[in-house]
Amino acid sequence: MTPLPASLLKPFVSPTLVLRNRIAMAPMTRGKSPRAVPGADVAAYYRRRAEGGVGLLITEGTPVHPLGSPGASVPNMFGEECLAAWKRIVDEVHCVGGKIIPQLWHVGPLRNPRDFPGSRLPVSPSGIGKPGDPVGEVLTESDIAEILRAFADATRHAKEAGFDGVEIHGAHGYLIDLFFWQATNLRRDAWGGDLVGRTRFAAEIVRACRREVGPGFHIQFRYSQWKQQDYTAKLARDPGELARFLEPLTDAGVDLFHCSSRRFWEAEFEGSPLNLAGWTKKLTGRPVLTVGGVDAERFVEPAQPCLPDSVAAADLMVARGEVDGVAVGRALLGDPRWVEKWAAGAGDEIRRFAKADLSTLA
Ligand SMILES: Cc1cc2nc3c(=O)[nH]c(=O)nc-3n(C[C@H](O)[C@H](O)[C@H](O)COP(=O)(O)O)c2cc1C
Repeated sequence: MTPLPASLLKPFVSPTLVLRNRIAMAPMTRGKSPRAVPGADVAAYYRRRAEGGVGLLITEGTPVHPLGSPGASVPNMFGEECLAAWKRIVDEVHCVGGKIIPQLWHVGPLRNPRDFPGSRLPVSPSGIGKPGDPVGEVLTESDIAEILRAFADATRHAKEAGFDGVEIHGAHGYLIDLFFWQATNLRRDAWGGDLVGRTRFAAEIVRACRREVGPGFHIQFRYSQWKQQDYTAKLARDPGELARFLEPLTDAGVDLFHCSSRRFWEAEFEGSPLNLAGWTKKLTGRPVLTVGGVDAERFVEPAQPCLPDSVAAADLMVARGEVDGVAVGRALLGDPRWVEKWAAGAGDEIRRFAKADLSTLA
């Protein structure tokens, strides 16, 4: 018998979301939806994890706007055919007792132009994708209004399709994060400037989504300090800066923060053991998910072992009330029954994640 992660297995109850446990599936892009329409295999992929006991499925990133897609086989959250397909997936997940929310995404400059011949150039806050790297076009005022509208429409569509909420992707160096990041937001207008000015784009997106669906529909927000363009980047260097960053987002109506770190057990700031999610909960009073390296080797780097007993460490964080739950990514690719096996004391029967799982994504 492996020890039960008793706190992770407790239900989660908030005004907008009720879950059977504290384990979410982290959003993971699959790129297996020809013409951007998710098919029966996508439904089976999510259904397997719901049957395996996952409390909350967060889908792969789903573009809200044609210019926000990274590639042609990533399923959209707009267009009649896509929305009908998502509705079928939601129904399948609900049928087996699962909950599911889509991750709403705009990749900004990080799109593959070969997949979109003849389309407009990629867009970004200031025409750079990372420091010193000119790319595509600067967003105009009317582009920004169109993107706010697209996020709001996608949130309404998600509600109409029966999803249990939405997650807005503000992490990892995509469009929203490029507004946050001082190194890539050089704007002098109301969408740039100091830390609070740079959060305005995200806060207005949240506000637009909230206006569209009213107070009861769950809206969570994912953000990260790290960027795929620079793992050492920081939006906030101390708790004071983090508080200033989070306040406009909280005021705009975020129900839960999903704080993406690469190693969840690491303290965020000196002088306290709290990680990024722990600080976010302390500063906002909102529930939080932590993520990064639960039962899987260190992310992106050459294979290195994960924290020994990472599940017990995550369980302890929930037991202490520092975080409300964890998102699990690669471990759930390795074994769709990961939750069920931990809950049965059979953690040692789990099929471990292997690099090859990244190509099958089954
Ligand atoms: C194949 C793959 C695809 C991913 N795609 C996304 C994505 O679409 N959106 C996102 O926010 N994070 C994405 N991530 C990051 C994961 O959500 C998660 O933060 C990361 O894998 C760390 O969690 P883990 O150590 O449990 O795997 C992806 C990760 C992987 C491995």
